[in-house]
Amino acid sequence: MDTIIIRGGKPLVGTVEASGAKNAALPLLAAAILADGPVTYRRVPHLRDISTMMTLLAYQGAHVHFDDQSCLHIDTRPASKAEAPYELVKTMRASALVLGPLLARYGHACVSLPGGCAIGARPIDMHLKGLEAMGAHIEVDQGNVIAKAPRGLKGAHIVFDQVTVTGTENLMMAATVAEGETILDNAAREPEVVNLAESLRALGADIEGEGTNRIIIRGVSGIHEGEVEVIPDRIETATYLAAGIITNGDVTVTHAEPGHLEAFIARIRDAGVQVEIGEHSIRCRCNGPLVGVNIHTMPHPGFPTDLQAQFMALMTLARGTSIIRETIFENRFMHVQELVRMGADIKLDGNTAIVNGVESLSGAPVMATDLRASASLVLAGLAARGETRISRVYHIDRGYERIEEKMQKLGADIERHSGSETWMKGIMANG
Ligand code: EPU
Repeated sequence: MDTIIIRGGKPLVGTVEASGAKNAALPLLAAAILADGPVTYRRVPHLRDISTMMTLLAYQGAHVHFDDQSCLHIDTRPASKAEAPYELVKTMRASALVLGPLLARYGHACVSLPGGCAIGARPIDMHLKGLEAMGAHIEVDQGNVIAKAPRGLKGAHIVFDQVTVTGTENLMMAATVAEGETILDNAAREPEVVNLAESLRALGADIEGEGTNRIIIRGVSGIHEGEVEVIPDRIETATYLAAGIITNGDVTVTHAEPGHLEAFIARIRDAGVQVEIGEHSIRCRCNGPLVGVNIHTMPHPGFPTDLQAQFMALMTLARGTSIIRETIFENRFMHVQELVRMGADIKLDGNTAIVNGVESLSGAPVMATDLRASASLVLAGLAARGETRISRVYHIDRGYERIEEKMQKLGADIERHSGSETWMKGIMANG
């Protein structure tokens, strides 16, 4: 297993380009199931989760390939298998995004039910209830969701009990080719949902209201071939900005979308960071130490749960106390004990972390436990005195494209070592 080794303390300075967003690309790729011709995707990031979705579509019989210009082409016309097997779903929960499109296209689907994951139970009951409201018959057998709608899906009025991002996306895709009108109330307003709605519309769908909590979809007989573009990754963008901030540096992220990061930008400004916003760029600089700021995670446009861990890393070195409340996932504090191993002062009380800023962090061997927790450990390692070794970095590879290369470009002393040999060397080096 790979290890990332960081020798901290160097201010990060310079410019990096945001990659396309993983969480926008995944539903866009699933939407190809509905198209009756090839779909071309621009700005798809090269990530493990994307490869998993490509493998899943290829397993179903689709033609899937990247060309020399880094455009991804998917043609699902040759596909015939309406299935997502456990082997793929267990490595990526977002595989469940194929359920709505498969059921809409074939009238049946068999998708392995995702289990819990490191950050929470994460059921998909609202996806299933929504499909049932559209006329599907659903049962769970031997760990698989077996969905049937032999007479096709029908439009329905669906009110989500709780905001769900992939739930909104799954039902939006199913409704695109259902008979009649579907209204999704209490829908997710995330930029990734908007990207999906705009892309489906470019392929012939009739959708309005994306970006608000009511989305209206009027079913069409089919969607066609075309070209779509993945939006910039707001979480990756903010992670690089945080890398500049935590090292007292000066980082600009280009090809970014500042409008997608308003809550993050407001909170780092409160913490004392100087933020300059361009049309498609964000620059962050610090004038002196950060001050503690409270956050609580919320669906968009609130503070994103996917940035909670990275923000906490910043707050470990801020003056004063910061209260961080996680309201989306019940177990998204796996980074806390690892940050404590690096010298942070953090107390947990249920879904709240109380962070008392310390003068400095010190490098330590730590373990990545999920994607965003790993990113917070990279940030802490960049700021810490001495060497930090992060193991289980396959979590980072799920969501950050060429992370060590991009960090190196900004001046970080960071490298990746592969295999168990590194682990042994790690043991020797750490006595
Ligand atoms: N929930 C239910 N039932 C459902 C669906 C969701 O109880 O049927 C609950 C979840 O357990 C959670 C809350 O509702 O407590 C919100 O979950 P949501 O469905 O919005 O999460 P998701 O769609 O599974 C996406 C992102 C996550 C991101 C969340 C919240 C993708 C592929 N994943 O997950 O991204 O944290 O929205 O914004 O879009 C990440 O990239 O690291 C990541 C975890």
